[in-house]
Amino acid sequence: MSTRHHQSAATTIRPAQIEDAGGVVELLGQLGYVRSSASVRRCIRASASDPESIILVAASADGQLTGCLQVVVTRRLAEGDRGEIASLVVGADQRGRGIGARLVQAAVEHLRALKVADLRVRCNVKRERAHRFYERQGFRRTKTQAVFDRPLHPGDGSSTARQDRSRR
Ligand SMILES: CC(C)(COP(=O)(O)OP(=O)(O)OC[C@H]1O[C@@H](n2cnc3c(N)ncnc32)[C@H](O)[C@@H]1OP(=O)(O)O)[C@@H](O)C(=O)NCCC(=O)NCCS
Repeated sequence: MSTRHHQSAATTIRPAQIEDAGGVVELLGQLGYVRSSASVRRCIRASASDPESIILVAASADGQLTGCLQVVVTRRLAEGDRGEIASLVVGADQRGRGIGARLVQAAVEHLRALKVADLRVRCNVKRERAHRFYERQGFRRTKTQAVFDRPLHPGDGSSTARQDRSRR
């Protein structure tokens, strides 16, 4: 076992529960996404009833949330089926202790149990340290894309795309 894993040994990785919503909101804020507790609770509920997707949290011995990861299965016409990490963040004061690696490994195990063969993550080009992290976890950079968003109700001020734009 690596030194990093020893350093995060007191950390538990488990599926998110509704009560974790507040901690998850805080972690997502550190990633630059402003989400409400209600929307995170909805995601946790939806994920719990979908056998393919999972939201995992890392919790310290005292119950504090130190990281979270969401993985979904995408079934694209052209590209086929694969797992995709939709969100991954480790608390700013907890990084570099192996928690991110353990969350990714738990996602891999979840996908293997579903017989899914590939895992993808899309990561903002500016997150260079995260790129190195993913390469160390066995990911290989395969393409760089431009991302376009279109609000479906322009002018009503309710677009979540506005909150979330280009942060990942
Ligand atoms: C990327 C991230 C999830 C990795 O989790 P972690 O628990 O810190 O990672 P581990 O301890 O398992 O692995 C350490 C590696 O993570 C990366 N890392 C460490 N601290 C980091 C930080 N502050 N920011 C970004 N990456 C970091 C480095 O590649 C590090 O390897 P190194 O120390 O040899 O340079 C975490 O650092 C993080 O949340 N970063 C900011 C948010 C982010 O970029 N998320 C990914 C969005 S796609």
